[in-house]
Amino acid sequence: MTILVTGAAGFIGYHVAESLLARGETVIGLDNLNAYYDVRLKEARLDRLRTRPGFRFVHADIAEREAVGAVVERHPDIDRIVHLAAQAGVRHSLIDPYAYVQTNVMGQLVILEAARRLKNLRHLVYASTSSVYGANTELPFRETDRVDRPVSLYAATKRADELMGHAYAHLFGLPQTGLRFFTVYGPWGRPDMAYYMFARAIMAGEPITLYDGGRLKRDFTYVDDIVAGVVGALDHPPEGETPPNRILNIGNHRGEEVSTLVALLEKSLGRRAVVRVAPRPSVDVEETFAAVDAIAGLTGFAPRTALSEGIPRFASWFLGWNGEA
Ligand SMILES: NC(=O)c1ccc[n+]([C@@H]2O[C@H](COP(=O)([O-])OP(=O)(O)OC[C@H]3O[C@@H](n4cnc5c(N)ncnc54)[C@H](O)[C@@H]3O)[C@@H](O)[C@H]2O)c1
Repeated sequence: MTILVTGAAGFIGYHVAESLLARGETVIGLDNLNAYYDVRLKEARLDRLRTRPGFRFVHADIAEREAVGAVVERHPDIDRIVHLAAQAGVRHSLIDPYAYVQTNVMGQLVILEAARRLKNLRHLVYASTSSVYGANTELPFRETDRVDRPVSLYAATKRADELMGHAYAHLFGLPQTGLRFFTVYGPWGRPDMAYYMFARAIMAGEPITLYDGGRLKRDFTYVDDIVAGVVGALDHPPEGETPPNRILNIGNHRGEEVSTLVALLEKSLGRRAVVRVAPRPSVDVEETFAAVDAIAGLTGFAPRTALSEGIPRFASWFLGWNGEA
């Protein structure tokens, strides 16, 4: 297989690319290495991918149609796409809303247009998010639930991606799977996410802010489980379905309190957190919890990593990385 992985220098993209390369696939990684968070972390992930035979890197912006068009013209053998490049982060969408529409909406369209020009394309797998469930309170979140009440612009752009995906599957028969990721964490993780910011603050002796006293719950999903789900989905295109379009949750199937996450970080890092409490911001939901029977039935997906196993693995990577930086 020749697989275009967008966002390959990102947290999930890096891990997915590693896994595909390890099983002998050719991976064309694409990323614009933007400065939303520490570019050294993106470069370091990329350096590891570059040591692998079968990896090629393209420095490009997915919202630029000529650049992406040139990639598919140069590589007409691409038969799978894993599209993970995005402007991520719920809270940052209050600060720079335009970046979300530019990358997540325009960029998604550019990828769809490029995909439909690839004659050998068997499957486009792309990232959506649990945030599309917005203000829903009935748990667990199921793919059949309402998703028309986003509480952040980030969620609105990801829902737009799902709708554009449906249109392209209907109009052009483009086989797609949208994966709704639930709070992914692990080594080489994202510095803007709570588990990472908490780790940094704990080590620096700085205070952390716990919304609603740490009682918010998240379905924390270890990155290796996400990779298994992404690759499993990639290997099972929605062939024979009309339109060939699926949307699947991918989570750990367990909501855990943020206070539990903090206790595990304290234990793994060997330091106590200085805690401040604050009310929940309006872009944050109270709880997320994924129903995963659909992806389990279609691909055999089964989350294996408890938070109590995953956090020590993240912490040990974090201590090494911070030592190097
Ligand atoms: N990590 C999570 O918990 C989580 C949860 C739900 C959904 N997601 C989605 O999963 C995907 C991967 O997320 P991640 O956590 O690895 O984030 P990330 O920010 O680490 O990775 C995204 C990568 O895309 C690149 N990128 C951004 N805009 C681009 C553009 N215009 N052109 C080319 N490259 C661009 C960035 O440089 C980055 O390397 C995203 O679509 C995100 O919205 C992640």
